Amino acid sequence: MSVKPIFFALDGKHLDNFSRELEILKGNIYGVKVGLEMFTSEGPSSVEKLKKDGWNVFLDLKLHDIPNTVQAATISAGDIGADYLTIHIASGKEALLAAKESKSENLKLLGVSTALTSKAYSPEISQKVYEEFLLAKESKIDGVICPPSELVKTKELFELIVTPGIRLKNEDSHDQKNITTPEKAIRDGASYLVMGRSVRQNINYVVEKLKL
Ligand code: C5P
Repeated sequence: MSVKPIFFALDGKHLDNFSRELEILKGNIYGVKVGLEMFTSEGPSSVEKLKKDGWNVFLDLKLHDIPNTVQAATISAGDIGADYLTIHIASGKEALLAAKESKSENLKLLGVSTALTSKAYSPEISQKVYEEFLLAKESKIDGVICPPSELVKTKELFELIVTPGIRLKNEDSHDQKNITTPEKAIRDGASYLVMGRSVRQNINYVVEKLKL
């Protein structure tokens, strides 16, 4: 069975509430994403437990702070075993470079644009994302979190691209406004997809039928 390039978003307070899904998904998808909700409620133990169970862990903290703080938090994320960490590109070049310089080797840094996928596409947003991604590139960040609409352009800048805003055909978009299907995101250049609600609601389809 092939491992699909998906990070399952553990959007909830407690890791235990995802044990059924994690059991089904193990060996079928690439990794899991621990976000602000779980990390602020369970702390580093959530990441440590997932690592012990053999998962690739993406710690989505979207750091946005002064260089010294971003650097220190990046070191801590590596220490607890995270494999991927998000930093707001708006933290600035100095912060991004400081994080890159002192991070542990196992940790990959993903730059986040201020235009999240809960904002709809517009030419202004597209331009803003591009400018931020150029800064991320100059700052030697490993990859970016890229909205579906910007994938093709971003592929020219980065090899490592992680894309949220994924919905299966005919599915409710909820709060996401910049969305695409898993198949199209991969065709357009995403290395990995972040999928939360559509995995939870269609877990058998994702494991057995989705071809990526
Ligand atoms: O349930 P759904 O698939 O919409 O969840 C998307 C996940 O991706 C959430 O955890 C959300 O925080 C995250 N995310 C996003 N847009 C970004 C960055 C992260 O939706 N630009």
